[in-house]
Amino acid sequence: MSSEHAPTIGPSSAAQATAPSKSSARGRIAPGPRGPFSGFPLMRNPLPFMEKLFREYGDVVGARFLNFPVYIVAHPEGVKHVLQENHRNYTKSQDYVILARLLGQGLVTSEGSLWLRQRRLMQPMFHRQKIAAFGAMMTDCTLGMIDRWSAIARRQEPVDVTSEMMRLTLEIVGRALLTMDLTSQADTIGREMTIANERFGQFDIGMMLPWLPTRKNFRFRKAVGELRRIVLDIIANRRRENRDYGDLLSMLLAARDEETGEKMSDEQLRDEVLTLILAGHETTANALSWTWYLLSQHREVERKLHAELDEVLGGRPPVMADLGNLNYTGMVIDEAMRIYPPVWAIGRAAIADDEIMGYRIPRGSNVMLSQWLTHRHPKFWEAPERFEPERFSAERVAGLPRYAYFPFSGGPRQCIGNIFALTEAQLVLATIAQSYRLRLVPDHPIELQPLITLRPRYGVKVTLEPARA
Ligand code: HEM
Repeated sequence: MSSEHAPTIGPSSAAQATAPSKSSARGRIAPGPRGPFSGFPLMRNPLPFMEKLFREYGDVVGARFLNFPVYIVAHPEGVKHVLQENHRNYTKSQDYVILARLLGQGLVTSEGSLWLRQRRLMQPMFHRQKIAAFGAMMTDCTLGMIDRWSAIARRQEPVDVTSEMMRLTLEIVGRALLTMDLTSQADTIGREMTIANERFGQFDIGMMLPWLPTRKNFRFRKAVGELRRIVLDIIANRRRENRDYGDLLSMLLAARDEETGEKMSDEQLRDEVLTLILAGHETTANALSWTWYLLSQHREVERKLHAELDEVLGGRPPVMADLGNLNYTGMVIDEAMRIYPPVWAIGRAAIADDEIMGYRIPRGSNVMLSQWLTHRHPKFWEAPERFEPERFSAERVAGLPRYAYFPFSGGPRQCIGNIFALTEAQLVLATIAQSYRLRLVPDHPIELQPLITLRPRYGVKVTLEPARA
């Protein structure tokens, strides 16, 4: 991996000498660079910049974007305070306004009573038993991809496993949500979703000013308009058909508010569907993509993974009932998401003055909680850059504070799809690993690209080696 992004955090001895001690003085001002532009590198090169601030100033650091203060919090105690203990004092930050241009008022972007009502309506759809119904479909989609791969493997051609995982997770979420294959040639949802999604990775003036008549803004608006129209058509058809497909859309259509008995409007359904497609595929695809990269670099971990798969599955495809026995497989995924968290930071804005770990947070400030920093915090993770799935054994996890690891966030706004994602990732990993060992193409550059999710900038190019030679 490129040295620019090699994991290097941890207070240096020099920084320890100058870092402010957290004494009894409460409400102190968070240390950090104070200039009006001091927060700008957060946009350009966020990961090394956050690491540098953490090394120099410690667990709570302040910087500024023009007039807006931003506080970066690395310590699990601070994360817990914002996400759980004092969550009522925080709304989502401005970044989510940009996301709302695509997702409208879906579960990721909505706030207050609308969010609460929707969360209550949707929570039952994501219970373990409901997700279990999708297990066989998840494995089948993966087997379909493996079939497609066989010709590529015979020709010994490389594949970009990042695009393959994106395609696979889009197919899975499309089937779970709409009983549709969103990856087929004819499918415009998949295509327009990719255009809209990629727009979030392009930081330019048009992104800041969405009304500017630039080509990219025009394409984005067109894609969003098209997506909304298609999803509304699907909803209208479903209402006419009045048939239970057993998918998430059928559940959304049937859901009623417990207190008022109200159902969702078409616009609300549309926003929830688009939200679930976006939130539900790119994150899991990145988790899997980084897992393959890490496995390709750590033969001993790969060997242990195969030993477990051989013992539990003996070559047959996994089913839901196997997951409880695939402990090491689960630990490999947990550890991959520790090192490369698919969501690398989440932003909040303080409604009223607050105090995080003794530091004063004035109202209106942005607070950035970063999985990237916390998952590598040297106080909680020994040799944090080392890929070591055993860290996630039950005994070792029991010794960690809850928020030392929070790939799915926490508190009331914790990811609603976490069980879906973990089930999917385990089934996909177990299915593919039994067919192929993925070998990174020599000299293929691996570089981090922290957009909304943490992607490998040039993908992960691999060759496919049959698992059973
Ligand atoms: C490895 C995969 C995933 C990761 C790492 C992940 C991570 C996250 C995180 C960190 C949040 C909180 C964002 C914030 O508070 O600002 C979140 C929220 C959310 N995620 Fe996921 N997610 C994953 C998969 C999924 C899947 C598969 C679905 C749906 C099928 C999903 C749907 C959602 C929704 C709807 C929310 C908003 C929840 C709310 O605010 O009530 N996610 N996710």
